[in-house]
Amino acid sequence: ISAALGAGRLAGRHVLVTSGPTHEPIDPVRYIANRSSGAQGTAIAAALRDLGARVTFVTGPASVPPPPGVDVVAVGTAAQMAAAVRAALPADAAVMAAAVADWRIANPGTQKMKKDGSDRPPALDFAENEDILAAVSRGEPRPRLVVGFAAETEKVVEHATAKRLRKGCDWILANDVSPETGIMGGAENAVTLIDANGAEPWPRMGKDAVARRLAERIANALA
Ligand code: CTP
Ligand code: CA
Repeated sequence: ISAALGAGRLAGRHVLVTSGPTHEPIDPVRYIANRSSGAQGTAIAAALRDLGARVTFVTGPASVPPPPGVDVVAVGTAAQMAAAVRAALPADAAVMAAAVADWRIANPGTQKMKKDGSDRPPALDFAENEDILAAVSRGEPRPRLVVGFAAETEKVVEHATAKRLRKGCDWILANDVSPETGIMGGAENAVTLIDANGAEPWPRMGKDAVARRLAERIANALA
């Protein structure tokens, strides 16, 4: 009965979810990436869909398949993700779960880099990528609710609280992605929800359970 009552709470709402890593090309055959599997973003998209939302799912090259029943926009680079996010607006809410590369290679080669026979390895020049979460939080049309993640390896709540203010989003889900937590690439997550009122640690649980709890919170906030 509670499932029947809960279903459809996001009917008529459009929610944008970003997920997965991005790949930043070095040359046509090489790239820089990160360890994000896309599992948490995928679970969030599925949970929002289950509450009846229309979900636009902008995903980098993830290692888990996108959920059925959402509008999938597959991208490679952070710049492509930023453009896809802009094109997906307006939305009632946005959840930015992607592990966006902070830097791209400034001038990726158009041909495969070759060893030149010298003993000097090549140097890579980086350029900073646009902060998609900050752009959505400060842009127009702004979703009523903007949720970010904060991947930290130390001083998790402190760093994430500062991040929320810096980016201008409403909520941040902070998580400790230190290798010893096993969270990046694992099935569980331990997050702290940070909003204007403070920090609420959630118990460690499956990524699906985190997603359902977040989707319920979003439905409450948009109600
Ligand atoms: N994010 C984004 N665009 C970027 C970088 C990050 O949209 N270019 C989003 C992520 O999707 C996440 C949030 O910003 O929701 C925080 O990402 P995180 O990497 O933790 O924060 P950064 O601001 O990049 O700070 P740093 O990596 O230096 O800790
Ligand atoms: Ca980052």
